[in-house]
Amino acid sequence: MVSYIDLSFEGIYFFIIKKSIYLQHMESVPYDKRSGKIWFNGKTVDWKDANIHILNHGLHYASCVFEGERVYDGEIFKLAEHTERLFYSAERMGIKVPYSKKEINDACKNIVNVQKVKNGYVRPLIWRGSEMMAISAQRNKIHVAIATWEWGSYFDPKLKLNGIKLNISNWRRPAPNTIPWDTKASGLYMICTLSKHEAEAQGFTDSLMLDYQGNIAEATGANVFFKDESGALHTPVPDSFLDGITRREVIKIAKSKGIKVVERKIKPDEMSGFTGCFLTGTAAEVTPVSQIDNYKFEVCDVITNLNDAYQNLVRKDSAA
Ligand SMILES: Cc1ncc(COP(=O)(O)O)c(C=O)c1O
Repeated sequence: MVSYIDLSFEGIYFFIIKKSIYLQHMESVPYDKRSGKIWFNGKTVDWKDANIHILNHGLHYASCVFEGERVYDGEIFKLAEHTERLFYSAERMGIKVPYSKKEINDACKNIVNVQKVKNGYVRPLIWRGSEMMAISAQRNKIHVAIATWEWGSYFDPKLKLNGIKLNISNWRRPAPNTIPWDTKASGLYMICTLSKHEAEAQGFTDSLMLDYQGNIAEATGANVFFKDESGALHTPVPDSFLDGITRREVIKIAKSKGIKVVERKIKPDEMSGFTGCFLTGTAAEVTPVSQIDNYKFEVCDVITNLNDAYQNLVRKDSAA
């Protein structure tokens, strides 16, 4: 006899399987071949019509900034903070956004509703257009688009469970006086793509980048934390890379649990003294790390508890 509990468990189980098959299928569809709507310069347009000409400044000279946001249960987590950072990134790049923060917040929420995204990702993007095609771009129109789609885990959930493996990149975060380092300016991400490709070619999942002085900086799309034998967390001072919104939330969670958090410069060889390691980021959420280069770490309770607390927070905030 099949009891109610068996049925409901099977129901949930098959729902998870179906959802993961659907997301895997969607991942194989190129982003420009999908369907739905995109918010594009103040209008909601068909996905296939959200196009730009190849002669635009954003593409050629990376005069482009963006955000990465997650939707949990239909609500965008920390939307106001992401929009603040989007405008800050634009300002640092000398880009004046032709919309207010409220208009962008409303547009993000609206497109999530139009697309009926329940658990996914939001990508607002701002770039310079085509009026001038040289280094100077004083007269270029500023364009804004917001796309959103259903999305699952950034890292393979099976790898995530046991902790992902990172190499140490040959590429470094640039010195703070070389580029607006504290932004999500597209140009900065070339370093991340180079590092990530290098790591994948070596059989790693991601890459740990050092800063221009050789201190530990961050992973290609996430901040990094270490745990020492006493249970205290150590994380690099974000003085040449992004001070992630997730990083700040996880620090708050850790402190509320009585965990000591030390923000300091960390040299790569100090990793031999750490027992745990994890990444934080909007996409990465809280991802345990089992290895960086030849340094090994355990996926311990402290890290899984922080992950659980973060998952509770993102869903509680979205339910509020
Ligand atoms: C290079 C880089 N570092 C760190 C982060 C983490 O930032 P956040 O937690 O705000 O998503 C991200 C993701 O946005 C990133 O791309």
